[in-house]
Amino acid sequence: MTTGWPVFTEDELRRYDGQHGQPAYIAYDGKVYDVSRAPDWKGGMHKGLHYSGLDLTRSLRKAPHDASVFQRVPQVGILKPEGIPSPQPRLSPVNQAKVKRR
Ligand code: HEM
Repeated sequence: MTTGWPVFTEDELRRYDGQHGQPAYIAYDGKVYDVSRAPDWKGGMHKGLHYSGLDLTRSLRKAPHDASVFQRVPQVGILKPEGIPSPQPRLSPVNQAKVKRR
């Protein structure tokens, strides 16, 4: 399924840190936003505390505002979900017996 949005990995997102002429992007709740034009994100930094180029989902809890601030900045993409680790492959009964015998 495709959403039509560009997909950013966390590595790709890191490049958009608002430094050296790069735009400043941040991720929140799976979405990537452009905060380059936000006065509170000048130089890619927010309130001397938060850097752009990162997933800040967990940091919002400590902010004095809620997620409604994201209505004021444009979305530019989505964050690629972290791979879900696959469970250990299950052994067939025959192979389970072999492992026990070792
Ligand atoms: C923890 C310390 C933080 C402080 C002190 C802080 C403070 C502020 C203030 C004062 C504003 C402008 C007024 C307002 O919109 O309410 C603002 C806007 C904003 N903040 Fe934060 N914030 C913090 C954390 C965060 C975090 C963790 C995120 C991202 C997850 C974030 C994202 C934003 C955005 C996107 C805006 C809107 C910018 C605009 O409208 O131009 N902030 N913040």
